Amino acid sequence: MERKREHWGNKLGFILAAAGSAVGLGNIWKFPYITGENGGAAFIFIYLICILVIGLPVLIAEILLGRNSQRGPISTFKHLAKKHRNLWVTVGGLFFITGLVILSYYNVIAGWSMGYIVESIAGKISSFQSSADAGVHFNSLVSNPGWIISWQLLFVVLGGFVVYFGVRNGIEKIAKFLMPIFFIILLFLVLWGVSLEGADKGLTFLLKPDWSTVSFKTVLMALGHAFFTLSVGMGVLLTYGSYLKKDENIFFSGIMIALLDTFIALLAGLAIFTSVFAMGFDPAGGPGLVFNVLPAVFSQMPGGNVFSTLFFILLSIAALTSTISILEMLVSTLMDEFKMKRHSSVVLLSGSIFILGIPSALSFGEFGSFRIFGLNWFDMMDYLSANVLLPLGGMLVAIFIGWYISKQEIIGELFHGVRDTQFNRKTSNVWYFLVKFIAPVLILLVFLSAIGVL
Ligand code: PHE
Repeated sequence: MERKREHWGNKLGFILAAAGSAVGLGNIWKFPYITGENGGAAFIFIYLICILVIGLPVLIAEILLGRNSQRGPISTFKHLAKKHRNLWVTVGGLFFITGLVILSYYNVIAGWSMGYIVESIAGKISSFQSSADAGVHFNSLVSNPGWIISWQLLFVVLGGFVVYFGVRNGIEKIAKFLMPIFFIILLFLVLWGVSLEGADKGLTFLLKPDWSTVSFKTVLMALGHAFFTLSVGMGVLLTYGSYLKKDENIFFSGIMIALLDTFIALLAGLAIFTSVFAMGFDPAGGPGLVFNVLPAVFSQMPGGNVFSTLFFILLSIAALTSTISILEMLVSTLMDEFKMKRHSSVVLLSGSIFILGIPSALSFGEFGSFRIFGLNWFDMMDYLSANVLLPLGGMLVAIFIGWYISKQEIIGELFHGVRDTQFNRKTSNVWYFLVKFIAPVLILLVFLSAIGVL
């Protein structure tokens, strides 16, 4: 039977949609605060190595798997696994669960971000004397179930709305529209941050490593974040890859996506740290950094409301283009595996994600005293997905490509759309080696050391 699958309208559409997936809360909300907590430049250095040696090779592997099978994750494994088929189908199921876990708490932060656009426009973000003041305001909002759940719901509906229209008319259109706006706002905020008096202290923080805080846990954080920020390890890029035509150059696209993502994280770090340091605040603000510290920073400067509005629009766009990629992975799984229609899948999944997200949404109020390993529900979901599920998923993708499919088939797939030159052959061999041997071993070592076995 001939299978019909939707395809991207063009190459730019794919790259922008995939970059939109990669660039998300990870870059703007999370990267700055974990950098702040883990020694600044030292952390950035380890993170960049993780991106280059593990993240990027596995990212290319994922896109390649999807393009080869033209199916969503579970169906891809079913279709391509010659051995241990059930095991691999379970891995596809793991991706599905990871998607649900991430979306459940991701939409909550995205909801805060949208709520903060309105707070900014209403002029409520301009009168804080200190980050403690801003923190009190933040806490009063996030411990209010009505506020938090309505914003969360609105965001879930927004994401569902885009995915409802499909790959070309929903995801690709919105990425082409929003990503340029995103770049412009970000560049504006960077230029403004760098121009502040005292901005150089922020630059020093980003460039001068402090190795004293680095441990194996730091390396796990950097590795986990490399996966999280690239959207790798749960079949999202596999799904986006499955909408690619055979003549696209996966290598080039993969490198572009990783470069854009890294560049944007660094720019966001630059915008945030220059202004945080210029205004004399502490960079290690934790998950509340952009919600506690930045509003206080905005309050200290003329036109703070405008900057604050722009910043939270930036954050919301980033979150939306990532949310839709995860939702699309889930939707494509239901469509391919259970022959469900796109529209009913979107409705079913959005409803489930909303409900699954409620414990995370309430983690900052009454429900906050509920702890697992000392973490509240929200933090637990974040830790579990970024530091356990995604690296594990990434390792499995690497193992699948390296050990379950013939090298000939993989390289053959790669060379659709890539010119057959000697340089490209060599590069593809290096890539294959990284995916087959280096990535799985390094990920395993980091896991073992983080749990104290090594
Ligand atoms: N990459 C996104 C971010 O940086 C998060 C994400 C993770 C999206 C996994 C898709 C899959 O925020």
